[in-house]
Amino acid sequence: MCGIVGYVGTKDASSIVFEGLKKLEYRGYDSAGIASINGDLDIRRAEGKLANLEAKLREAPLEGHLAIGHTRWATHGAPIERNAHPHADETRAIAVVQNGIVENFMTLRAQLQQEGHEFKSDTDTEVITHLIDKFLAEGDELVEACRRAFGELQGAHAIAVVSKQEPDKIVTVRLGNAGGVIVGLGKGENYLASDIPAILEHTQRVIYLEDREMAVITAGGVSFSRLNGQAISKEVHQITWDPISAAKGPYRHFMQKEIYEQPQSVQSTIRGRIDFTTGQVSLEELPLTPAEAKAIERIIIVACGTSAYAGQVGKFMIEKLARINVLVDYASEFRYRDPLIDDRTVVLAITQSGETVDTLAALEEAKSKGAKIWSIVNMHGSMAHRISDGAILMQAGPEIGVASTKAFTATLADLFLLGMYLGQLRGVLSAEESFELATALAHLPELAGEVLAEGYNDYTKLANLYHKQEHFLFLGRGPNYPVALEGALKLKEISYIHAEGYPAGEMKHGPIALIDDHMPVVCIVTQDHVYDKMISQIEQVRARNGIVISLINEGDEEVAKKSDHVLRIPKAHPLLTPILSVIPLQLLAYHTAIWRGADVDQPRNLAKSVTVE
Ligand code: F6R
Repeated sequence: MCGIVGYVGTKDASSIVFEGLKKLEYRGYDSAGIASINGDLDIRRAEGKLANLEAKLREAPLEGHLAIGHTRWATHGAPIERNAHPHADETRAIAVVQNGIVENFMTLRAQLQQEGHEFKSDTDTEVITHLIDKFLAEGDELVEACRRAFGELQGAHAIAVVSKQEPDKIVTVRLGNAGGVIVGLGKGENYLASDIPAILEHTQRVIYLEDREMAVITAGGVSFSRLNGQAISKEVHQITWDPISAAKGPYRHFMQKEIYEQPQSVQSTIRGRIDFTTGQVSLEELPLTPAEAKAIERIIIVACGTSAYAGQVGKFMIEKLARINVLVDYASEFRYRDPLIDDRTVVLAITQSGETVDTLAALEEAKSKGAKIWSIVNMHGSMAHRISDGAILMQAGPEIGVASTKAFTATLADLFLLGMYLGQLRGVLSAEESFELATALAHLPELAGEVLAEGYNDYTKLANLYHKQEHFLFLGRGPNYPVALEGALKLKEISYIHAEGYPAGEMKHGPIALIDDHMPVVCIVTQDHVYDKMISQIEQVRARNGIVISLINEGDEEVAKKSDHVLRIPKAHPLLTPILSVIPLQLLAYHTAIWRGADVDQPRNLAKSVTVE
């Protein structure tokens, strides 16, 4: 979703901002622009990819040591140059970029138009420009004019403003949960970004703005205040990611790199949290006494997309290992359905970005109703991390590809650990059981590595055979049902093939009508307690001439004989199998998208961090 970058210092500001925007391309965008101050305010904007903006900057470079830039993901108004940010006022004295939605923009726009302001775009953001302009005309200084303008806005926003009248500063604010506002600290220079990767190569010292906090950034320092004007001091955080881990390296795409990183990211997620000699789990970020663990009656997992599917696998893990009732809900539904919650309920958010607006709203709803709120989150310091009573950090490293891969498997490892931890505290798991589970977990990174070994499965050939198909069906049972949902989601989001995931037993209740000799059906048939049931589903697909692609355990000749194609995974503990079974489905989607010539890392219409409703 939209990205913001800002710089003030002694270097060429527009190049630094442009490079920062490039690092945010993964968030998804459809136009971009930069404003810089060099005596005058100068702006370049272009629709489409950053290459178009780059061409404009080459033709007419932007000079100056202060600049803000933006990548826009259209909400109000088509993704054309006129609607791209930054937006300037009529006299081109100020420029504004915004992430989020001004919910009362119709009213504000009508008022401002009546007062004589002329709008040049269809965006909601432009009302912010005119509001600030109005207060400047009344004699306010920039910071005060911004403060008054921000106070009139309804909705959630991250905003940055520059003015040629006060050419040494960037004014920024965070209002609600429209994504992060991060101030990066340098020496004689300072930075602004909506996401850490944009500024990571320049600084690893950052400050996060909370809701209704403002910052005024100059080359010499940064001052912080609340929206009401009260000055505040803020904690500086040290980012531990190195810039290299946010780069593509030898891989063709970030998604490919992140798929191949999974043995390592699962390993990092487990490391230090379990004693493999005893099986004892310790989650330092979630300190609980046995009495507290026993008092939990229900866990409600709230999440969106891939994270919600991870939560569905987590339900199997936690119910089995800790014997706690788990409910999984889409955060976007949970927040509006007046959920039944009490102080014996834990609401657990799963969010890679930690900034998904629906998930944050669900957490707030739960908190207001008295639940304890926990989160499993990848982005350290993100909003979800900060507002939760307890958080488990994924240790997956930055996930840049829009389609989530390594965050899914890291989350599953975390959910398994959480299930064990609660099971041990509640006295559900015996020492022998804990030891067996720990041993199973210890082997997992190695098994994931096997699935990814060259030549293990021939994805390229399979993807080539079926990349022109219009529909796919994915079937699974038990914890592999959410994996079927995830396999279908991966395929549709990056290859644009329509795909459905189904609990295999439901196929006969409707989707079976779709099956003919043009329908590839991916059946996840691992050797567990529903193995025989899955075999009967395969028979039903075969009887209707469907194309059977089975995901089987190594050496399963019986299913191989009944299938048109097989993808293999090694045998693992049934609750851990989803961490392996999802990998071939990620690679099938990846190679299918390649054959279709799709933009794997930035699929159309999608954004990495969904900060609007
Ligand atoms: C799919 C995908 C999305 C996200 C969803 C939630 O590949 O990436 O479905 O999983 O938008 O995002 P987070 O986990 O950041 O809250």
